[in-house]
Amino acid sequence: MKEVNLMKLKTILFITSFVPVIFFKVVARVGDATLAQAKVATVVGLILAGIQFILSKRFVKHTTYLEKTFLGFLGFGTVWVYLTPVPVSSLFVDHSTTLLYFALFLTTFIPQLFGYDPFTYAIAKQMTSEAVWNTPHFRTINLHLTYFWSAIFFVNFLSSWLGHGKPLFSILIPLIIILGIGLPVVRIYPKYYLKRQFTSQPIDLSLIPNTAKELIMRMPMGFHSEAARDLKAEIQFDLSGEGGVKGVLSISEGKCSFREGDSSSPTLTIYSPADVWLKIARQEINRAQALMDGLYRVEGDMNLLLKMGDLFRPPTKAMEEDLTQKGEKKMRILAIQGSPRPKVSNTEILLQEFLKGARSQGAETETVYLKEKEIHSCTGCYTCWAKTPGICVFEDDMPELLEKVKGCDTLIYATPLYNYNMTSLLKAFQERLLPLLDPHLIKMGEIYRHPQRYKMNRKMVLISTCGFPEASHFDGLRHVFRHIERSGQTPLVGELLMPGGELLKQHGMKGSVQGVLQTAYRAGIEVIREGKVSKETEMEIQKSLVPPDALAEMANLWWDSHLEGITEGKPVQGKVEDMRLLLRGMAAAFNPLAAGDLKATIQFEVTGKQTGDWFLSVESGKCTYHEGKVTSPNLTVTTPSEVWLAITNKEMDGQQAFMEGKYTATGDMSLLMRMKTLFGSQTS
Ligand SMILES: Cc1cc2nc3c(=O)[nH]c(=O)nc-3n(C[C@H](O)[C@H](O)[C@H](O)COP(=O)(O)O)c2cc1C
Repeated sequence: MKEVNLMKLKTILFITSFVPVIFFKVVARVGDATLAQAKVATVVGLILAGIQFILSKRFVKHTTYLEKTFLGFLGFGTVWVYLTPVPVSSLFVDHSTTLLYFALFLTTFIPQLFGYDPFTYAIAKQMTSEAVWNTPHFRTINLHLTYFWSAIFFVNFLSSWLGHGKPLFSILIPLIIILGIGLPVVRIYPKYYLKRQFTSQPIDLSLIPNTAKELIMRMPMGFHSEAARDLKAEIQFDLSGEGGVKGVLSISEGKCSFREGDSSSPTLTIYSPADVWLKIARQEINRAQALMDGLYRVEGDMNLLLKMGDLFRPPTKAMEEDLTQKGEKKMRILAIQGSPRPKVSNTEILLQEFLKGARSQGAETETVYLKEKEIHSCTGCYTCWAKTPGICVFEDDMPELLEKVKGCDTLIYATPLYNYNMTSLLKAFQERLLPLLDPHLIKMGEIYRHPQRYKMNRKMVLISTCGFPEASHFDGLRHVFRHIERSGQTPLVGELLMPGGELLKQHGMKGSVQGVLQTAYRAGIEVIREGKVSKETEMEIQKSLVPPDALAEMANLWWDSHLEGITEGKPVQGKVEDMRLLLRGMAAAFNPLAAGDLKATIQFEVTGKQTGDWFLSVESGKCTYHEGKVTSPNLTVTTPSEVWLAITNKEMDGQQAFMEGKYTATGDMSLLMRMKTLFGSQTS
């Protein structure tokens, strides 16, 4: 039978279910009715109720509590009037109304106590679509309304009983209560209940997209992974009409993504006109109420539909700001800087270049300098695991940092290498991540580990610089991070490990350093675009900028210059202050391609504060640095150390200084002209 016809039939049967009782009441009580007449009325009423019962069973395969009650009441009445002596049998006729109210009270009060459907179910089912019948809210509303009817029938029973014989009490007052209170409450209560249950936070209407398609596409942005827990589901949307979409929200492992098309096995399917879904999003209509009213329909797991309010938050300004120009979710990068000298840190130079690259791809970055934070070291009390799960006893800066960690997509650990490992600042920070873990030992794959307390989908990148020229110094640190990767279920998607990190700040090495910075920048781009840093980029960073011998010699010259007091006090950031170091650096930064097959010697006769003779020898694509004088140099530069250092540090213009005679050059002047290309930015 067609659904519409069935509904019509059910409505007709609902109305006709009252006929037997009304017939009985009218015939048994009309005029000066005799007992014999009342007996006949009871039987005829019973027969009518029986017919009604059979018709319902036959055509709608279902009988309502009202039909059962009326049938039972008339059946019971028939037995009463026929089988009991006259004075008793007339009692049924005299008190039939009171008894009927009592029968209705029992019908509305008893069944649900024994696990049967409440009284109003059948009627409510006729008014709502099948999809909502299994929802907890449908059941609760019906229970509330059923007990409400119990109260009404009980009051009517009392009214009829106490005011016996007076139509005011047996008919008028009960009718007023049923029509004036009962029916309006039945209409209003479900709406009121659903409104209270689904009170949503106020929304900013300007942030609601103009089409339902955009709305669904953006839902993953408002996805609340903690509410989802282990939920794995596919929500299929079939939104028809203008601005509609056929698409799937896929929820798994605390993540939600959208794709256009169909799901092969949706957990829930929502069929709705696109404008209805937009109105729901704008809170112009209540989602649950709209379903009850048949404005849209669903198939599948109804509880998932009701949970959607918890799973997806309405768009906020912050979310909007979280979108790249392409409408994709911005990647949030949190960098933890573990150098104790963050403002003059080599690692910082690499880190910031990496972050610039990531930002160029729309990422949002934040750097936390651990040196500036108060982070108590972990005392191993395990309070954060046992007594106050997830909360540490120390109220320092760490709780705030834990929130930042929880909210980021990529965590960058930036640390200088200290004793083949991370710095103690970073170590203290990592130890204090303990509240993010659950204490239990769970076997995942081949190893046991502590599961994450909170759902997360973080990646991590390690950035480090060390002083020595050998990349092998990082072996220990890498090993530690491999363990962190495995045990923390956080993929390590990049390692930027630069040996000879002090060169990053050597002004004289600017040319070569530029290449490293570009590589770090590229790594930042790769992490956003490809999800990881490529092996080529990682290898590039690990390449020594200058040969290990040169680095060692430069380092030694630097230390010597400080030990000898050539550079006084604190070294100035990025400044070359020692002639020997400068000339050694020039040799290290020598560009063999620019030199070709050049064979030459350049003598430096240095006067002033750092008096001395040094020369650079170029041959077979190599440049070497020497102390002393060479015989017959191709070019001789005679300069006070302050002048040549000032030119190198860009405090003085080289050409102008030459014109002004601040230094002199004799011999092959074309060599002086080529110096810039031969030695990068060592001389300007
Ligand atoms: C206490 C201490 C320990 C260090 N241990 C190492 C080491 O084991 N291996 C290494 O190559 N460099 C080591 N270094 C040098 C630093 O790793 C290097 O200078 C780094 O670039 C400094 O980074 P920053 O400027 O970001 O702080 C150490 C430096 C200090 C102060």
